[in-house]
Amino acid sequence: MSPDHFQSTDSLRADIGDAAWVDVMQAVDRTYAELVDYQEQLETRNAELEALRTFLSSIMHSISDYLVVTDTALCIADASRSFCKAVGLPVEKLVGQPIAGFLQGTSGGNLITAISRSVAQRADNTVEAELTTTIGPEPVEFRIAPRLRGGRKRAGVILTGRPLGELRRAYSELEASHEELKQTQTQLVRNEKLASLGRLLAGVAHELNNPISFVYANTHALEKYINRFETYFDRVQAGAPREELVELRGTLKLDRDLRNLRTAIEGARDGAERVKNIVEDLRRLSAEGSGELAPTDLVRTASIAADWVERGSKSRVTIAFEGEPSCIASARAGHVQQVLMNLVQNAVDAMAEQDDAALTIRSFYDGAHAVIEVSDNGPGIPDTAAAKIFDPFFTTKEVGKGTGLGLSISHKIAEEHGGSLELVPSDQGACFRLTLLRGDQT
Ligand SMILES: Nc1ncnc2c1ncn2[C@@H]1O[C@H](COP(=O)(O)OP(=O)(O)OP(=O)(O)O)[C@@H](O)[C@H]1O
Ligand SMILES: [Mg+2]
Repeated sequence: MSPDHFQSTDSLRADIGDAAWVDVMQAVDRTYAELVDYQEQLETRNAELEALRTFLSSIMHSISDYLVVTDTALCIADASRSFCKAVGLPVEKLVGQPIAGFLQGTSGGNLITAISRSVAQRADNTVEAELTTTIGPEPVEFRIAPRLRGGRKRAGVILTGRPLGELRRAYSELEASHEELKQTQTQLVRNEKLASLGRLLAGVAHELNNPISFVYANTHALEKYINRFETYFDRVQAGAPREELVELRGTLKLDRDLRNLRTAIEGARDGAERVKNIVEDLRRLSAEGSGELAPTDLVRTASIAADWVERGSKSRVTIAFEGEPSCIASARAGHVQQVLMNLVQNAVDAMAEQDDAALTIRSFYDGAHAVIEVSDNGPGIPDTAAAKIFDPFFTTKEVGKGTGLGLSISHKIAEEHGGSLELVPSDQGACFRLTLLRGDQT
């Protein structure tokens, strides 16, 4: 190439003039700088795009629910790995295929109808469909979200699907274990009732034993007297002379027997009456156990409960009654008795190691309420335990001694009566307050 083909810089500068030359050079510099700037921006955008792609792909890989992106023709544009795995095809083979082709029977049509509604309303929508998976049809709940390009133009939909099969299985398993738990709970409540009945029976057995042995001893004595009277009457009938009869009466000590006879009969009657009273107490408690609310004397119920708990336990406890001599609540006697038995039993258990064990039962009226408090001088309940004592199964007693249901059942009984059972602050030991509606004013 000959040098004539090029103009020298000098001659070029001469042609366009110095000032213009400077302008050109500056324009070239500016353009170059802009180019560099543009290039940098492009690289940054590329890096951002790459990060976004990686981010999206990691979502598509890790999401456990199904995620399917479709175009406006409802053909698959992208799908999560979980979906590919379920239908048994790699994403490359899925792209371009109609989503409805992967659904069973009518559910494909249902999905398309739901998609049309969602797109028309520009709102999310949910539909259940049967997906054809490698292990057979699987119920899936699809959430449909319209996909918009540039914020306005329709670009297809995004489907997120949750397999329901497993969920339903888990739900039915949950229901089964809940049912089992309920049965266990009913059983435990029944056990607790039996335990309370057991305590009651221990008390009753002890209580009945005294008068019965009294009656028994007296009838034994009566038997002896009868034998002697029979001997005497036999002689009378045989026509024995008067002197012999007088002597026999003295030998057989019939005059003393006659006096004792009266005492023995009175003793036997007292014993039988005591038995009758105990049976009446029991009948009163059991008859009203599950029935209607009726005026119930809390003091009398507490006194019977305390009597029986005390008789059923080995330790000695001093029991004092304070306040109203009779405090009438509207209650089911059997249930209240169960509550009071548990409160007294808990107090007696807490004071088992004490020689000075003392139980105070105080009752009073408070407006429309009848209140009874059971307090002891035991170790009390620490704050940490106080929050839990009404929880079912909370117990500090050793296995076999307590199920931890007593207070929770008692609390429930109080609530069922429209009343309350609470632990109230006390200077010494623990104090439980049972508040019920008054029953003496109706
Ligand atoms: N008067 C009390 N003094 C000290 N602690 C008490 C007293 N009453 C209850 N508690 C505590 O509350 C816990 C729960 O009592 P709850 O009556 O519910 O169950 P439990 O007596 O352990 O067993 P269950 O009554 O079922 O035989 C007891 O284990 C005990 O720790
Ligand atoms: Mg208890």
